[in-house]
Amino acid sequence: MQRHLVGISQIGAVRCHRLIALARAIRQASALPRLDKSVALAFFEPSTRTRLSFEAAATRLGCRVAAFSSAGSSIEKGETVADTIRTLEAIGFDAIVLRHRASDAAEHAASIAKHATIVNAGDGCHEHPTQALLDALTLLDEFGSLEGKRIAIIGDIRHSRVYRSDAALLGMLGAIVGVCAPPLLMPSHLPDGIVQLPDAASAIEWADAAIVLRLQRERMDSGLVPSLSDYRRRYAVRREYLVGSRVRLLHPGPVNPDIELDAVLVESEHSLIQRQVSNGVFIRMAVMIDIFATELVEHFLSH
Ligand code: NCD
Repeated sequence: MQRHLVGISQIGAVRCHRLIALARAIRQASALPRLDKSVALAFFEPSTRTRLSFEAAATRLGCRVAAFSSAGSSIEKGETVADTIRTLEAIGFDAIVLRHRASDAAEHAASIAKHATIVNAGDGCHEHPTQALLDALTLLDEFGSLEGKRIAIIGDIRHSRVYRSDAALLGMLGAIVGVCAPPLLMPSHLPDGIVQLPDAASAIEWADAAIVLRLQRERMDSGLVPSLSDYRRRYAVRREYLVGSRVRLLHPGPVNPDIELDAVLVESEHSLIQRQVSNGVFIRMAVMIDIFATELVEHFLSH
């Protein structure tokens, strides 16, 4: 089994099921182990919740955490991913949680690391596996099983690592995944079985739950979205679409209120957004225990 956590497809169904079950067990646990390891949070791209969530997870398990972001580090002086990984390993970090704008950064880091474990916290348009695990946990809490459940992913699909990880994991768990985006924000290839939905109104009508995504302008060539008002007209999730509906709403954050999603929906009875954030910490604790204390996994799962 590969120790690194690069993407959903690399870790496979068995480990995904195990991480979700472990996160649930940790959520119920009255006592937590102290792992006494050191974790570097190497965030080469902005982040609020993912970084704080990894930090909370690691510190609650007694790990020492060092966080650095590109501003103020040698990354500004042209340091490469390879340099950073070698340096962090030489200092002695046991795990490196990496966020980077290059879509192969996590895979590359994993090929360089000799003993530290690489955890992908989002690499370019590639994957964001812990986000998918926390989305799956949130949806499983809500529905019990995802077998046959319809999950629509609405927004900037093309640039979204969340879409790639979510589609892989939710499909693995038996959900039917639908996508909804303007043609220029669709990827050039959609895997078999993914349903294309023409606009947000029909996506909401079709779905049991919708994962709404932000327009990721930092990864976008200019001109892909003609105007925000055109985008909103067809692809924003609006309050009126949810009248009389039981659809659940998820969003990985950050939400751009009144662009991809009407602001009032964020705290409506449809929203699972705060639960996603809370579950994120349990998923990341599960990742740490799975990496550092494999012998404790069975203990947690049998309680
Ligand atoms: C996502 C990311 O960075 O990929 N956010 C997150 O991790 N909470 C989605 C996004 O930035 O839109």
